Amino acid sequence: MDWKILNIKNSYLEKISRAKSLNELDEIYLTLFGKSGEITLLPKNFSELSKEDLSKIGPLFNRVKTELEKAIDDRREKVRESVYKQLKDEELELEEGSIKKRKGHLHPITALNEEIANLGKKIGFQQFSAPHIDSDYYNFEGLNIPYGHPARDLWDTLYIDHPEKYGFKEGQLLLRTHTSNAQIRIMKELKLPIRIMVIDRLFRFENLDARHEHTFDQFEIVYVDKGVSMANLQYLSEYFLKHIFGKDIKVRLRPKYYPFVEPGAGVDGECIFCKGKGCKICGGVGWLELAGAGMIHPFVLNMGGIDPEKYSGLAWGFGPFRMAMLKYGVEDIRLFNSGDLRFLERF
Ligand code: PHE
Repeated sequence: MDWKILNIKNSYLEKISRAKSLNELDEIYLTLFGKSGEITLLPKNFSELSKEDLSKIGPLFNRVKTELEKAIDDRREKVRESVYKQLKDEELELEEGSIKKRKGHLHPITALNEEIANLGKKIGFQQFSAPHIDSDYYNFEGLNIPYGHPARDLWDTLYIDHPEKYGFKEGQLLLRTHTSNAQIRIMKELKLPIRIMVIDRLFRFENLDARHEHTFDQFEIVYVDKGVSMANLQYLSEYFLKHIFGKDIKVRLRPKYYPFVEPGAGVDGECIFCKGKGCKICGGVGWLELAGAGMIHPFVLNMGGIDPEKYSGLAWGFGPFRMAMLKYGVEDIRLFNSGDLRFLERF
């Protein structure tokens, strides 16, 4: 019996000293002291021993039992210490900056809008804002686009349900389709001469593709004074576009119809993707339309309470999303609103 006890002791002390994890030690503990553990079962045979043998084996058994328990406890302590040490080393590594810090930045459109606002401020233009949800009057009617006018098709529109709740008739409350909804308010509310810019969001029921979004921004200028002419419009187009794109950008003005300006112009920038040859992004034209502009129509000046015989004005609206496409070489306008970090990290 005594060699059996000593055998258990030696083989287990060896196993315990080699154990590397707390789990391993738990297993060893169970094989010794569990319900049918080797140490647990041993005393079952003690009844067969003579009194003399028992007086030797009993104390030996108790000593070995305590020794093994202590060996397991001590080893547990050692294993714990080495795990802590390992964690601490890893912690030190973290402190040394092995993980890259991620730095946020402004959305490219927000940054561009700020740049535009600063350019406008330098030449005396101040910012103005108008509602995103607006009436048919400010968005269409007052801008010389009466109900049923074919030009409304240009701005396929999102109407607000149950307008009667807000005191409007069916079809008369909508998400504004351009920042031009600010024009009449600007003229009514401010004193002449007027030098205003509106940089804000608008919404259209649009057929989406690489050049068309349903929700985007516009930058609009309203400039009313005595003697304002197309020459001012030409100057402003060049001032903004050359500052934003650099001196080399090719800009063209071409006649274009908008009911609220006369004459009206489209302002195009040469497509940087194909260098004017025509590609998928510019729709094969070689140019991307960046702005609509023109001399404010006498009808609209009248709506704004300004005498068209004495004053003239220009309005100019362009799209920062389209500009950002050209400036940063973005091939699909929908990326800006996508919230896709892989895209935003490009800036
Ligand atoms: N509001 C027009 C549009 O959304 C742009 C524009 C602004 C045209 C001012 C002329 C004058 O397309």
